[in-house]
Amino acid sequence: MPDRDPTQLRSHRWFGPDDMRSFGHRSRLKAMGFDDIDYQDRPVVAILNTWSELNTCHSHFRNRADEVRRGILQSGGFPVEVPVMSLGEMLMKPTTMLYRNLLAMEVEEVLRCHPIDSAVLMGGCDKTVPAMLMGAISADIPSIFLPAGPMLSARWKDVTLGSGSDVWKYWDERLAGNLCDQDWKGIENCIGRSAGTCMTMGTASTMACVTEAMGFSLPGAAATPAVVAEHSRLATRTGRRAVEMAWEQLKPSTFMTAESIDNGLMTSLAIGGSTNAIVHLIAIAGRLEIDLTLERFDELSRVTPMIGDIRPAGRYLMEDFYNAGGLSALLARLTDLLNTDCTTVSGVTLGEQIRGAEVIDDQIIRTRDNPVAASGGTCLLKGNLAPNGCVIKSVAADPKLLSHKGPAIVFDDYPSMKERIHDPDLDVTADSVLILRSAGPLGAPGFPEWGMLPLPKKLLEAGVRDMVRLSDARMSGTSYGTCVLHIAPESAAGGPLSLVKDGDQIEINVPQRTIHWHVSDEEIESRRAAAPPLKAVPDRGYSQLYAKHVTQADQGCDFDFLAGRSPGQEPGIH
Ligand code: FES
Ligand code: MG
Repeated sequence: MPDRDPTQLRSHRWFGPDDMRSFGHRSRLKAMGFDDIDYQDRPVVAILNTWSELNTCHSHFRNRADEVRRGILQSGGFPVEVPVMSLGEMLMKPTTMLYRNLLAMEVEEVLRCHPIDSAVLMGGCDKTVPAMLMGAISADIPSIFLPAGPMLSARWKDVTLGSGSDVWKYWDERLAGNLCDQDWKGIENCIGRSAGTCMTMGTASTMACVTEAMGFSLPGAAATPAVVAEHSRLATRTGRRAVEMAWEQLKPSTFMTAESIDNGLMTSLAIGGSTNAIVHLIAIAGRLEIDLTLERFDELSRVTPMIGDIRPAGRYLMEDFYNAGGLSALLARLTDLLNTDCTTVSGVTLGEQIRGAEVIDDQIIRTRDNPVAASGGTCLLKGNLAPNGCVIKSVAADPKLLSHKGPAIVFDDYPSMKERIHDPDLDVTADSVLILRSAGPLGAPGFPEWGMLPLPKKLLEAGVRDMVRLSDARMSGTSYGTCVLHIAPESAAGGPLSLVKDGDQIEINVPQRTIHWHVSDEEIESRRAAAPPLKAVPDRGYSQLYAKHVTQADQGCDFDFLAGRSPGQEPGIH
Protein backbone atom coordinates (compact mmCIF):
# COMPACT_ATOMS: atom_id res chain seq x y z
CA MET A 1 0.00 0.00 0.00
CA PRO A 2 1.61 3.29 -1.00
CA ASP A 3 2.09 6.09 1.44
CA ARG A 4 -1.04 8.24 1.15
CA ASP A 5 0.36 11.32 2.81
CA PRO A 6 -1.45 14.15 0.98
CA THR A 7 1.30 16.63 1.86
CA GLN A 8 3.52 14.63 -0.53
CA LEU A 9 1.24 15.38 -3.46
CA ARG A 10 2.51 17.89 -5.96
CA SER A 11 -0.80 19.78 -5.81
CA HIS A 12 -0.34 20.29 -2.08
CA ARG A 13 2.25 22.93 -2.96
CA TRP A 14 -0.58 24.93 -4.53
CA PHE A 15 -3.46 24.23 -2.17
CA GLY A 16 -1.88 23.29 1.17
CA PRO A 17 0.02 26.30 2.55
CA ASP A 18 -1.59 28.94 4.73
CA ASP A 19 -0.45 31.89 2.65
CA MET A 20 -1.90 34.45 0.32
CA ARG A 21 -1.18 32.64 -2.96
CA SER A 22 -2.73 29.42 -1.75
CA PHE A 23 -5.71 31.38 -0.50
CA GLY A 24 -6.08 32.60 -4.09
CA HIS A 25 -5.84 29.10 -5.55
CA ARG A 26 -8.45 27.76 -3.14
CA SER A 27 -10.84 30.70 -3.38
CA ARG A 28 -10.97 30.45 -7.17
CA LEU A 29 -11.84 26.76 -6.98
CA LYS A 30 -14.65 27.84 -4.67
CA ALA A 31 -15.70 30.28 -7.40
CA MET A 32 -16.21 27.27 -9.67
CA GLY A 33 -18.52 25.69 -7.12
CA PHE A 34 -16.10 23.31 -5.41
CA ASP A 35 -16.06 22.75 -1.64
CA ASP A 36 -12.91 21.89 0.30
CA ILE A 37 -13.90 18.25 0.30
CA ASP A 38 -13.88 18.16 -3.51
CA TYR A 39 -10.15 18.73 -3.83
CA GLN A 40 -8.42 18.83 -0.45
CA ASP A 41 -6.00 15.98 0.24
CA ARG A 42 -6.93 14.33 -3.06
CA PRO A 43 -4.74 13.78 -6.13
CA VAL A 44 -5.56 16.28 -8.86
CA VAL A 45 -5.90 14.18 -12.01
CA ALA A 46 -5.81 16.04 -15.30
CA ILE A 47 -7.73 14.64 -18.25
CA LEU A 48 -5.74 15.95 -21.19
CA ASN A 49 -8.33 15.86 -23.94
CA THR A 50 -7.54 16.22 -27.63
CA TRP A 51 -11.23 16.48 -28.54
CA SER A 52 -11.95 18.85 -31.41
CA GLU A 53 -14.65 19.15 -34.02
CA LEU A 54 -11.82 19.30 -36.53
CA ASN A 55 -10.48 15.92 -35.43
CA THR A 56 -12.85 13.38 -36.91
CA CYS A 57 -11.23 10.46 -35.08
CA HIS A 58 -11.80 11.86 -31.59
CA SER A 59 -15.48 12.75 -31.90
CA HIS A 60 -16.41 10.46 -28.97
CA PHE A 61 -13.91 12.07 -26.59
CA ARG A 62 -16.41 14.41 -24.94
CA ASN A 63 -18.32 11.42 -23.61
CA ARG A 64 -15.18 9.47 -22.84
CA ALA A 65 -13.78 12.33 -20.75
CA ASP A 66 -16.88 12.10 -18.55
CA GLU A 67 -16.33 8.37 -18.19
CA VAL A 68 -12.71 8.96 -17.20
CA ARG A 69 -13.95 11.56 -14.71
CA ARG A 70 -16.28 8.97 -13.18
CA GLY A 71 -13.34 6.65 -12.56
CA ILE A 72 -11.26 9.42 -10.99
CA LEU A 73 -14.09 10.29 -8.61
CA GLN A 74 -14.61 6.62 -7.75
CA SER A 75 -11.01 6.38 -6.62
CA GLY A 76 -11.06 9.59 -4.63
CA GLY A 77 -9.28 11.91 -7.04
CA PHE A 78 -10.15 15.42 -8.14
CA PRO A 79 -10.68 15.35 -11.94
CA VAL A 80 -9.90 18.39 -14.07
CA GLU A 81 -10.43 18.29 -17.83
CA VAL A 82 -7.84 20.25 -19.79
CA PRO A 83 -8.09 20.72 -23.55
CA VAL A 84 -4.86 20.46 -25.52
CA MET A 85 -4.17 20.92 -29.22
CA SER A 86 -5.76 18.29 -31.40
CA LEU A 87 -3.93 16.90 -34.43
CA GLY A 88 -6.47 15.37 -36.79
CA GLU A 89 -4.91 13.71 -39.82
CA MET A 90 -7.87 14.26 -42.08
CA LEU A 91 -8.22 18.03 -42.06
CA MET A 92 -4.79 19.51 -41.23
CA LYS A 93 -2.49 20.78 -43.96
CA PRO A 94 0.27 20.37 -44.94
CA THR A 95 0.65 17.56 -42.40
CA THR A 96 0.09 16.91 -38.70
CA MET A 97 3.74 15.92 -38.41
CA LEU A 98 4.63 19.60 -38.63
CA TYR A 99 2.84 20.00 -35.29
CA ARG A 100 3.71 16.81 -33.38
CA ASN A 101 6.45 18.59 -31.46
CA LEU A 102 4.20 21.58 -30.77
CA LEU A 103 1.64 19.33 -29.08
CA ALA A 104 4.46 17.59 -27.21
CA MET A 105 5.64 20.97 -25.92
CA GLU A 106 2.12 21.93 -24.92
CA VAL A 107 1.55 18.69 -23.01
CA GLU A 108 4.87 19.04 -21.21
CA GLU A 109 4.29 22.64 -20.18
CA VAL A 110 0.60 22.19 -19.28
CA LEU A 111 1.59 19.36 -16.94
CA ARG A 112 4.50 21.30 -15.52
CA CYS A 113 2.80 24.59 -14.73
CA HIS A 114 -0.42 23.33 -13.15
CA PRO A 115 -1.23 21.62 -9.84
CA ILE A 116 -1.43 18.19 -11.49
CA ASP A 117 -0.55 14.98 -9.66
CA SER A 118 -1.25 12.59 -12.50
CA ALA A 119 -2.73 12.70 -15.98
CA VAL A 120 -4.89 10.70 -18.35
CA LEU A 121 -3.66 11.38 -21.87
CA MET A 122 -6.54 11.10 -24.34
CA GLY A 123 -5.20 10.73 -27.86
CA GLY A 124 -5.39 8.38 -30.80
CA CYS A 125 -5.16 9.93 -34.24
CA ASP A 126 -1.60 9.30 -35.40
CA LYS A 127 0.64 12.09 -34.06
CA THR A 128 -1.37 12.73 -30.91
CA VAL A 129 0.01 9.49 -29.47
CA PRO A 130 3.76 10.14 -29.68
CA ALA A 131 3.27 13.84 -28.94
CA MET A 132 1.47 13.17 -25.67
CA LEU A 133 3.93 10.49 -24.61
CA MET A 134 6.91 12.73 -25.42
CA GLY A 135 5.46 15.60 -23.38
CA ALA A 136 4.54 13.42 -20.41
CA ILE A 137 7.96 11.76 -20.39
CA SER A 138 9.77 15.10 -20.37
CA ALA A 139 7.54 16.50 -17.59
CA ASP A 140 7.85 13.15 -15.80
CA ILE A 141 4.50 13.32 -14.07
CA PRO A 142 2.55 10.05 -13.55
CA SER A 143 0.56 9.57 -16.75
CA ILE A 144 -1.54 6.92 -18.41
CA PHE A 145 -2.59 6.86 -22.05
CA LEU A 146 -6.17 6.24 -23.17
CA PRO A 147 -6.29 5.52 -26.90
CA ALA A 148 -9.31 6.61 -28.94
CA GLY A 149 -9.73 3.09 -30.29
CA PRO A 150 -10.32 2.12 -33.91
CA MET A 151 -13.52 2.60 -35.90
CA LEU A 152 -15.74 -0.39 -36.53
CA SER A 153 -15.06 -2.34 -39.73
CA ALA A 154 -16.67 -0.73 -42.78
CA ARG A 155 -18.90 -2.47 -45.33
CA TRP A 156 -19.79 -1.42 -48.86
CA LYS A 157 -21.87 -3.82 -50.93
CA ASP A 158 -20.29 -7.18 -50.12
CA VAL A 159 -16.84 -5.70 -49.52
CA THR A 160 -15.16 -5.05 -46.16
CA LEU A 161 -13.48 -1.68 -46.43
CA GLY A 162 -10.35 -0.61 -44.54
CA SER A 163 -9.52 3.04 -43.79
CA GLY A 164 -6.97 4.63 -46.05
CA SER A 165 -5.80 1.43 -47.72
CA ASP A 166 -9.01 0.99 -49.67
CA VAL A 167 -9.11 4.66 -50.60
CA TRP A 168 -5.77 4.28 -52.37
CA LYS A 169 -6.81 0.96 -53.89
CA TYR A 170 -10.17 2.08 -55.28
CA TRP A 171 -8.78 5.43 -56.41
CA ASP A 172 -6.33 3.50 -58.59
CA GLU A 173 -9.23 1.46 -59.93
CA ARG A 174 -11.14 4.65 -60.65
CA LEU A 175 -8.14 6.10 -62.52
CA ALA A 176 -7.85 2.84 -64.42
CA GLY A 177 -11.50 3.27 -65.50
CA ASN A 178 -12.86 0.35 -63.46
CA LEU A 179 -15.11 2.22 -61.01
CA CYS A 180 -18.10 4.46 -61.81
CA ASP A 181 -18.94 7.71 -59.99
CA GLN A 182 -21.82 6.10 -58.13
CA ASP A 183 -19.63 3.35 -56.68
CA TRP A 184 -16.95 5.88 -55.74
CA LYS A 185 -19.65 7.86 -53.87
CA GLY A 186 -20.87 4.66 -52.25
CA ILE A 187 -17.39 4.01 -50.87
CA GLU A 188 -17.19 7.59 -49.60
CA ASN A 189 -20.45 7.06 -47.72
CA CYS A 190 -19.39 3.76 -46.15
CA ILE A 191 -15.69 3.84 -45.38
CA GLY A 192 -15.91 5.94 -42.21
CA ARG A 193 -18.08 3.60 -40.16
CA SER A 194 -18.04 5.25 -36.74
CA ALA A 195 -16.10 7.47 -34.38
CA GLY A 196 -12.54 6.30 -33.81
CA THR A 197 -9.22 6.05 -35.56
CA CYS A 198 -8.46 4.29 -38.86
CA MET A 199 -9.36 0.64 -38.42
CA THR A 200 -6.48 -0.72 -40.44
CA MET A 201 -3.07 -1.13 -38.80
CA GLY A 202 -2.24 2.47 -39.69
CA THR A 203 -0.16 4.74 -37.53
CA ALA A 204 -2.89 5.27 -34.95
CA SER A 205 -3.42 1.59 -34.19
CA THR A 206 0.29 0.88 -34.52
CA MET A 207 1.12 3.55 -31.94
CA ALA A 208 -1.72 2.42 -29.68
CA CYS A 209 -0.27 -1.12 -29.73
CA VAL A 210 3.27 0.16 -29.21
CA THR A 211 2.06 2.30 -26.29
CA GLU A 212 0.30 -0.63 -24.63
CA ALA A 213 3.36 -2.85 -25.12
CA MET A 214 5.60 -0.19 -23.58
CA GLY A 215 3.36 -0.24 -20.52
CA PHE A 216 1.80 3.20 -21.00
CA SER A 217 -1.86 2.09 -21.19
CA LEU A 218 -4.03 -0.58 -19.58
CA PRO A 219 -4.11 -4.09 -21.06
CA GLY A 220 -6.58 -4.39 -23.91
CA ALA A 221 -6.61 -0.66 -24.59
CA ALA A 222 -5.03 -0.67 -28.05
CA ALA A 223 -7.51 -2.79 -29.97
CA THR A 224 -10.77 -1.95 -28.21
CA PRO A 225 -13.02 -0.30 -30.83
CA ALA A 226 -13.93 3.31 -30.09
CA VAL A 227 -17.67 2.83 -29.82
CA VAL A 228 -18.16 -0.48 -28.01
CA ALA A 229 -19.27 -0.48 -24.38
CA GLU A 230 -15.94 -1.91 -23.31
CA HIS A 231 -14.28 1.32 -24.46
CA SER A 232 -16.36 3.27 -21.96
CA ARG A 233 -15.42 0.83 -19.22
CA LEU A 234 -11.78 1.11 -20.25
CA ALA A 235 -12.03 4.90 -19.90
CA THR A 236 -13.44 4.63 -16.39
CA ARG A 237 -10.86 2.02 -15.41
CA THR A 238 -8.12 4.30 -16.73
CA GLY A 239 -9.44 7.15 -14.59
CA ARG A 240 -9.45 4.97 -11.50
CA ARG A 241 -5.93 3.81 -12.18
CA ALA A 242 -4.64 7.37 -12.69
CA VAL A 243 -5.54 8.20 -9.08
CA GLU A 244 -3.57 5.23 -7.80
CA MET A 245 -0.62 6.18 -9.99
CA ALA A 246 -0.52 9.59 -8.31
CA TRP A 247 -0.23 8.00 -4.87
CA GLU A 248 2.31 5.46 -6.16
CA GLN A 249 4.33 8.17 -7.94
CA LEU A 250 4.43 5.90 -10.97
CA LYS A 251 6.19 8.36 -13.28
CA PRO A 252 7.26 7.57 -16.85
CA SER A 253 10.88 7.48 -15.63
CA THR A 254 9.98 4.54 -13.39
CA PHE A 255 8.64 2.30 -16.13
CA MET A 256 9.98 3.58 -19.47
CA THR A 257 13.37 2.01 -20.19
CA ALA A 258 15.46 0.91 -23.15
CA GLU A 259 13.87 -2.53 -22.69
CA SER A 260 10.33 -1.18 -22.85
CA ILE A 261 11.24 0.79 -25.98
CA ASP A 262 12.50 -2.49 -27.49
CA ASN A 263 9.15 -4.06 -26.57
CA GLY A 264 7.44 -1.26 -28.47
CA LEU A 265 9.67 -1.76 -31.50
CA MET A 266 9.15 -5.52 -31.58
CA THR A 267 5.42 -5.02 -31.26
CA SER A 268 5.35 -2.64 -34.21
CA LEU A 269 7.14 -5.30 -36.26
CA ALA A 270 4.98 -8.19 -35.05
CA ILE A 271 1.78 -6.40 -36.05
CA GLY A 272 3.17 -5.30 -39.44
CA GLY A 273 2.81 -1.73 -38.20
CA SER A 274 3.34 1.66 -39.73
CA THR A 275 6.82 2.84 -40.69
CA ASN A 276 5.98 6.04 -38.81
CA ALA A 277 6.42 4.15 -35.55
CA ILE A 278 10.18 4.13 -36.14
CA VAL A 279 10.40 7.92 -36.27
CA HIS A 280 8.12 8.32 -33.26
CA LEU A 281 9.93 5.71 -31.17
CA ILE A 282 13.29 7.35 -31.83
CA ALA A 283 11.80 10.66 -30.64
CA ILE A 284 10.19 9.03 -27.57
CA ALA A 285 13.48 7.33 -26.71
CA GLY A 286 15.23 10.69 -27.09
CA ARG A 287 13.06 12.13 -24.32
CA LEU A 288 14.38 9.32 -22.09
CA GLU A 289 17.95 10.08 -23.18
CA ILE A 290 18.07 6.70 -24.89
CA ASP A 291 19.90 6.74 -28.21
CA LEU A 292 17.69 4.52 -30.34
CA THR A 293 19.22 3.91 -33.75
CA LEU A 294 17.89 2.58 -37.02
CA GLU A 295 20.45 -0.21 -36.61
CA ARG A 296 18.72 -1.36 -33.41
CA PHE A 297 15.46 -1.36 -35.30
CA ASP A 298 17.00 -3.50 -38.04
CA GLU A 299 18.47 -5.94 -35.49
CA LEU A 300 15.03 -6.49 -33.98
CA SER A 301 13.45 -6.67 -37.41
CA ARG A 302 15.65 -9.67 -38.23
CA VAL A 303 14.33 -11.67 -35.27
CA THR A 304 10.72 -10.53 -34.93
CA PRO A 305 8.06 -12.44 -36.87
CA MET A 306 4.98 -10.66 -38.13
CA ILE A 307 2.08 -12.60 -36.66
CA GLY A 308 -0.70 -10.02 -36.72
CA ASP A 309 -2.51 -10.54 -40.03
CA ILE A 310 -3.95 -7.05 -40.25
CA ARG A 311 -4.27 -4.70 -43.22
CA PRO A 312 -2.57 -3.13 -45.05
CA ALA A 313 0.20 -5.74 -44.76
CA GLY A 314 -2.29 -8.50 -43.86
CA ARG A 315 -5.95 -9.37 -44.37
CA TYR A 316 -8.05 -8.34 -41.38
CA LEU A 317 -9.10 -5.20 -39.54
CA MET A 318 -8.76 -3.93 -35.98
CA GLU A 319 -12.22 -5.10 -34.95
CA ASP A 320 -11.22 -8.62 -36.02
CA PHE A 321 -7.98 -8.25 -34.04
CA TYR A 322 -9.99 -7.22 -30.97
CA ASN A 323 -12.29 -10.21 -31.35
CA ALA A 324 -9.29 -12.50 -31.80
CA GLY A 325 -7.91 -11.54 -28.40
CA GLY A 326 -6.23 -8.20 -29.07
CA LEU A 327 -2.71 -7.19 -28.26
CA SER A 328 -2.27 -9.18 -25.02
CA ALA A 329 -3.00 -12.39 -26.92
CA LEU A 330 -0.55 -11.46 -29.67
CA LEU A 331 2.17 -10.55 -27.17
CA ALA A 332 1.59 -13.80 -25.29
CA ARG A 333 2.87 -15.53 -28.42
CA LEU A 334 6.12 -13.54 -28.27
CA THR A 335 7.06 -13.89 -24.61
CA ASP A 336 10.45 -15.40 -25.45
CA LEU A 337 11.37 -12.24 -27.42
CA LEU A 338 9.88 -9.57 -25.17
CA ASN A 339 11.36 -8.07 -22.03
CA THR A 340 8.58 -9.34 -19.77
CA ASP A 341 10.04 -7.83 -16.58
CA CYS A 342 9.19 -4.30 -17.68
CA THR A 343 6.76 -2.45 -15.42
CA THR A 344 3.49 -1.08 -16.75
CA VAL A 345 1.00 1.55 -15.65
CA SER A 346 -1.23 -1.23 -14.38
CA GLY A 347 1.33 -1.81 -11.63
CA VAL A 348 2.31 -5.30 -12.75
CA THR A 349 4.98 -6.42 -15.19
CA LEU A 350 4.25 -6.89 -18.88
CA GLY A 351 4.76 -10.61 -18.39
CA GLU A 352 2.12 -10.76 -15.66
CA GLN A 353 -0.18 -8.63 -17.76
CA ILE A 354 -0.16 -10.93 -20.77
CA ARG A 355 0.12 -14.28 -19.02
CA GLY A 356 -2.65 -16.62 -20.08
CA ALA A 357 -4.06 -14.26 -22.72
CA GLU A 358 -5.90 -16.45 -25.15
CA VAL A 359 -5.85 -16.26 -28.94
CA ILE A 360 -9.37 -16.85 -30.25
CA ASP A 361 -8.55 -17.00 -33.96
CA ASP A 362 -5.24 -18.23 -35.38
CA GLN A 363 -6.06 -16.72 -38.76
CA ILE A 364 -5.86 -13.20 -37.37
CA ILE A 365 -3.18 -13.71 -34.73
CA ARG A 366 -0.99 -16.29 -36.40
CA THR A 367 0.99 -18.99 -34.64
CA ARG A 368 4.77 -18.72 -34.55
CA ASP A 369 5.16 -21.53 -37.07
CA ASN A 370 2.75 -19.89 -39.50
CA PRO A 371 3.67 -16.19 -39.52
CA VAL A 372 2.71 -13.64 -42.16
CA ALA A 373 6.46 -13.02 -42.46
CA ALA A 374 9.14 -14.86 -40.53
CA SER A 375 11.16 -11.65 -40.05
CA GLY A 376 12.13 -8.40 -41.70
CA GLY A 377 8.65 -6.94 -42.13
CA THR A 378 10.18 -3.48 -42.29
CA CYS A 379 13.83 -3.05 -43.23
CA LEU A 380 16.56 -0.46 -42.95
CA LEU A 381 18.46 0.17 -46.20
CA LYS A 382 21.74 2.02 -46.51
CA GLY A 383 23.90 3.14 -49.40
CA ASN A 384 25.24 6.15 -51.25
CA LEU A 385 21.76 7.57 -51.78
CA ALA A 386 20.88 7.28 -48.09
CA PRO A 387 24.07 7.47 -46.02
CA ASN A 388 22.05 7.80 -42.80
CA GLY A 389 19.52 5.22 -43.82
CA CYS A 390 16.01 4.83 -45.17
CA VAL A 391 13.25 2.31 -44.59
CA ILE A 392 10.94 0.06 -46.57
CA LYS A 393 7.92 -1.87 -45.35
CA SER A 394 8.77 -4.97 -47.29
CA VAL A 395 5.70 -6.95 -46.18
CA ALA A 396 3.50 -4.38 -47.91
CA ALA A 397 5.52 -4.44 -51.16
CA ASP A 398 5.40 -6.59 -54.29
CA PRO A 399 8.01 -9.30 -53.53
CA LYS A 400 9.20 -9.15 -57.17
CA LEU A 401 10.34 -5.57 -56.68
CA LEU A 402 12.40 -6.08 -53.54
CA SER A 403 15.50 -6.53 -55.72
CA HIS A 404 15.21 -4.08 -58.54
CA LYS A 405 17.29 -1.78 -60.72
CA GLY A 406 15.82 0.86 -62.96
CA PRO A 407 16.13 4.38 -64.34
CA ALA A 408 15.11 7.32 -62.16
CA ILE A 409 12.24 9.66 -62.95
CA VAL A 410 12.74 12.60 -60.62
CA PHE A 411 10.08 14.98 -59.35
CA ASP A 412 11.56 18.03 -57.66
CA ASP A 413 8.60 18.56 -55.39
CA TYR A 414 5.03 17.48 -54.78
CA PRO A 415 3.32 20.05 -57.05
CA SER A 416 5.50 19.11 -60.03
CA MET A 417 4.88 15.41 -59.35
CA LYS A 418 1.15 16.03 -59.28
CA GLU A 419 1.32 17.98 -62.53
CA ARG A 420 3.42 15.45 -64.46
CA ILE A 421 2.68 11.99 -63.09
CA HIS A 422 -0.35 11.30 -65.29
CA ASP A 423 1.04 13.06 -68.38
CA PRO A 424 0.65 10.58 -71.25
CA ASP A 425 4.04 11.77 -72.57
CA LEU A 426 5.91 10.98 -69.35
CA ASP A 427 8.76 8.65 -70.30
CA VAL A 428 7.91 5.95 -67.77
CA THR A 429 7.67 2.17 -67.71
CA ALA A 430 6.89 -0.29 -64.95
CA ASP A 431 10.67 -0.64 -64.43
CA SER A 432 11.23 3.05 -63.77
CA VAL A 433 12.06 4.22 -60.25
CA LEU A 434 9.84 7.14 -59.28
CA ILE A 435 11.60 9.67 -57.05
CA LEU A 436 10.08 12.51 -55.05
CA ARG A 437 12.25 15.01 -53.23
CA SER A 438 11.68 18.14 -51.10
CA ALA A 439 9.31 16.01 -49.04
CA GLY A 440 11.31 15.52 -45.84
CA PRO A 441 11.20 17.23 -42.44
CA LEU A 442 12.61 20.49 -43.84
CA GLY A 443 11.70 20.19 -47.47
CA ALA A 444 7.91 20.06 -47.51
CA PRO A 445 8.16 21.19 -44.67
CA GLY A 446 6.82 18.87 -42.01
CA PHE A 447 7.69 15.43 -43.41
CA PRO A 448 4.31 14.69 -45.03
CA GLU A 449 2.93 11.30 -46.04
CA TRP A 450 3.68 11.62 -49.73
CA GLY A 451 5.89 8.53 -49.94
CA MET A 452 3.38 6.31 -51.71
CA LEU A 453 3.69 8.19 -54.97
CA PRO A 454 0.70 7.63 -57.24
CA LEU A 455 1.25 5.34 -60.20
CA PRO A 456 0.99 6.91 -63.68
CA LYS A 457 -2.50 6.53 -65.11
CA LYS A 458 -1.28 4.99 -68.32
CA LEU A 459 0.49 2.23 -66.38
CA LEU A 460 -2.58 1.65 -64.17
CA GLU A 461 -4.63 1.23 -67.33
CA ALA A 462 -2.07 -1.31 -68.52
CA GLY A 463 -2.55 -3.30 -65.30
CA VAL A 464 0.52 -2.16 -63.30
CA ARG A 465 -0.26 -2.00 -59.56
CA ASP A 466 3.16 -1.46 -57.94
CA MET A 467 6.47 0.22 -58.79
CA VAL A 468 9.62 1.15 -56.89
CA ARG A 469 9.18 4.59 -55.38
CA LEU A 470 11.77 6.56 -53.41
CA SER A 471 11.45 9.69 -51.33
CA ASP A 472 12.51 11.58 -48.25
CA ALA A 473 8.83 11.61 -47.21
CA ARG A 474 6.91 9.35 -44.85
CA MET A 475 3.92 7.34 -45.93
CA SER A 476 0.63 6.74 -44.19
CA GLY A 477 0.47 3.60 -42.10
CA THR A 478 -2.51 2.64 -44.23
CA SER A 479 -0.41 2.77 -47.43
CA TYR A 480 1.35 -0.06 -49.22
CA GLY A 481 3.62 -0.71 -52.19
CA THR A 482 7.36 -0.81 -52.83
CA CYS A 483 8.04 2.56 -51.26
CA VAL A 484 11.46 3.48 -49.90
CA LEU A 485 10.93 6.18 -47.30
CA HIS A 486 12.63 8.56 -44.84
CA ILE A 487 15.79 8.91 -46.95
CA ALA A 488 18.33 10.66 -44.72
CA PRO A 489 19.78 13.16 -44.98
CA GLU A 490 16.85 14.61 -46.90
CA SER A 491 17.20 16.54 -50.15
CA ALA A 492 16.43 19.91 -48.55
CA ALA A 493 19.33 19.36 -46.16
CA GLY A 494 21.64 18.77 -49.14
CA GLY A 495 21.41 14.98 -49.05
CA PRO A 496 22.43 12.97 -52.13
CA LEU A 497 18.79 12.70 -53.18
CA SER A 498 19.00 16.38 -54.18
CA LEU A 499 21.55 15.48 -56.89
CA VAL A 500 19.81 12.61 -58.67
CA LYS A 501 18.84 13.20 -62.32
CA ASP A 502 16.38 11.55 -64.67
CA GLY A 503 17.83 8.38 -66.12
CA ASP A 504 20.32 7.66 -63.31
CA GLN A 505 20.24 3.96 -62.47
CA ILE A 506 18.97 3.21 -58.97
CA GLU A 507 19.14 -0.21 -57.37
CA ILE A 508 17.48 -1.51 -54.23
CA ASN A 509 18.29 -4.87 -52.73
CA VAL A 510 16.12 -5.43 -49.68
CA PRO A 511 17.48 -8.90 -48.77
CA GLN A 512 20.94 -7.29 -48.63
CA ARG A 513 19.58 -4.07 -47.08
CA THR A 514 21.22 -1.84 -49.68
CA ILE A 515 20.27 1.07 -51.88
CA HIS A 516 22.71 2.10 -54.59
CA TRP A 517 22.84 5.03 -56.95
CA HIS A 518 24.94 4.01 -59.94
CA VAL A 519 26.77 7.30 -60.44
CA SER A 520 30.51 7.81 -59.90
CA ASP A 521 31.81 9.74 -56.90
CA GLU A 522 33.40 12.29 -59.27
CA GLU A 523 30.08 12.92 -60.99
CA ILE A 524 28.36 13.29 -57.61
CA GLU A 525 30.96 15.87 -56.55
CA SER A 526 30.62 17.87 -59.73
CA ARG A 527 26.84 17.90 -59.38
CA ARG A 528 27.21 19.01 -55.76
CA ALA A 529 29.47 21.91 -56.78
CA ALA A 530 26.80 23.11 -59.22
CA ALA A 531 23.86 22.65 -56.83
CA PRO A 532 21.70 25.65 -55.89
CA PRO A 533 21.83 26.98 -52.30
CA LEU A 534 19.61 25.40 -49.66
CA LYS A 535 16.16 26.79 -48.95
CA ALA A 536 16.09 29.79 -46.58
CA VAL A 537 14.71 29.53 -43.05
CA PRO A 538 11.25 31.19 -42.77
CA ASP A 539 11.17 34.75 -41.43
CA ARG A 540 9.00 34.26 -38.39
CA GLY A 541 6.71 32.21 -36.23
CA TYR A 542 6.43 28.51 -35.58
CA SER A 543 7.74 27.72 -39.08
CA GLN A 544 11.00 29.38 -38.16
CA LEU A 545 11.31 27.55 -34.84
CA TYR A 546 10.57 24.30 -36.66
CA ALA A 547 13.07 24.86 -39.48
CA LYS A 548 15.86 25.84 -37.10
CA HIS A 549 15.45 22.93 -34.72
CA VAL A 550 13.85 19.87 -36.31
CA THR A 551 16.16 16.87 -36.58
CA GLN A 552 16.38 14.46 -39.51
CA ALA A 553 14.27 11.29 -39.91
CA ASP A 554 16.93 8.95 -38.53
CA GLN A 555 17.00 11.09 -35.37
CA GLY A 556 13.24 11.13 -34.82
CA CYS A 557 12.40 14.67 -36.05
CA ASP A 558 12.12 16.03 -32.52
CA PHE A 559 13.37 19.55 -31.88
CA ASP A 560 17.02 19.40 -30.90
CA PHE A 561 16.36 21.37 -27.68
CA LEU A 562 13.61 19.01 -26.48
CA ALA A 563 15.66 15.86 -25.99
CA GLY A 564 15.69 14.61 -22.42
CA ARG A 565 13.59 15.45 -19.39
CA SER A 566 13.38 18.30 -16.90
CA PRO A 567 11.22 16.91 -14.11
CA GLY A 568 10.28 19.04 -11.15
CA GLN A 569 11.08 22.21 -13.02
CA GLU A 570 7.71 23.85 -12.51
CA PRO A 571 7.85 27.57 -11.82
CA GLY A 572 8.04 28.61 -8.17
CA ILE A 573 4.68 28.85 -6.49
CA HIS A 574 5.22 32.30 -5.06
FE1 FES B 1 -7.16 9.72 -37.59
FE2 FES B 1 -6.36 7.76 -39.41
S1 FES B 1 -7.14 9.75 -39.77
S2 FES B 1 -6.32 7.77 -37.27
MG1 MG C 1 -2.41 7.80 -40.80
